[in-house]
Amino acid sequence: MISNKIALLFLILHAGYTVVINGPIFDPPPPDEAAKMARYIMANSEWISIATISTMKNIKGYPFNAIQSVSDGTPSNSTGVPYLYLTDLDATSQDLAKDNRCTITASLAETDYCDRKKYDPEDPRCARLMITGRMLKLDKKSPEYQFGENALFSKHPVMKSWPKDHNFYVTKLDIEQLALFDFFGGIKYISIEDYFNVSTHVFEDIIFERVEFIEITA
Ligand SMILES: *[C@@H]1O[C@H](CO)[C@@H](O)[C@H](O)[C@H]1NC(C)=O
Ligand SMILES: *[C@@H]1O[C@H](CO)[C@@H](O)[C@H](O)[C@H]1NC(C)=O
Repeated sequence: MISNKIALLFLILHAGYTVVINGPIFDPPPPDEAAKMARYIMANSEWISIATISTMKNIKGYPFNAIQSVSDGTPSNSTGVPYLYLTDLDATSQDLAKDNRCTITASLAETDYCDRKKYDPEDPRCARLMITGRMLKLDKKSPEYQFGENALFSKHPVMKSWPKDHNFYVTKLDIEQLALFDFFGGIKYISIEDYFNVSTHVFEDIIFERVEFIEITA
């Protein structure tokens, strides 16, 4: 993998282009490797949609959906665990305080993969992962809190400068169900064991890396 990358860089530089690395360069795994696909989607997602049971005055008990930033690890250590940075000022957190059940959805539509392949976001091949479980606040003094914070800050450096008086905290989704829609024929359910057993070593080298081609004009 590494030598391929060096060869690619070499070719590109020779052609008079410079290279910026900031996203996935390799395509997702094939659809028959469902657990790997699920981990690939999670590892490459910077944000997710999150559905909660609303506590808002006019829509109490209705589903409510919002966008939140996410990270499942540091660049060298994707864990599959979704970590979020929440504040009690936010509607989603207020819902979760009352009932911490939620579903998050991540889609490859977030990467450039579906555009490149001309897959509509609703095309099953523009794969998405729906994870349902309970959102847990992590203990600030725990090693996992530190890990989650590093995971979030490494993908979203700007979070470090978010207002202190908003009292952001790290949460993790304790996964109960993993539903993957990545091909024709309907949803696949992935066992939690298979999901966490994926060796991320297969995409250690590729997470957070995308080559963009910028022509050198000089
Ligand atoms: C990755 O993170 C997990 C904690 O979530 C830790 O147990 C493991 O040792 C880490 N691995 C590496 C290579 O840093
Ligand atoms: C975990 O994955 C490895 C291959 O990476 C496989 O050999 C092993 O059987 C898996 N373990 C479980 C419990 O599924």
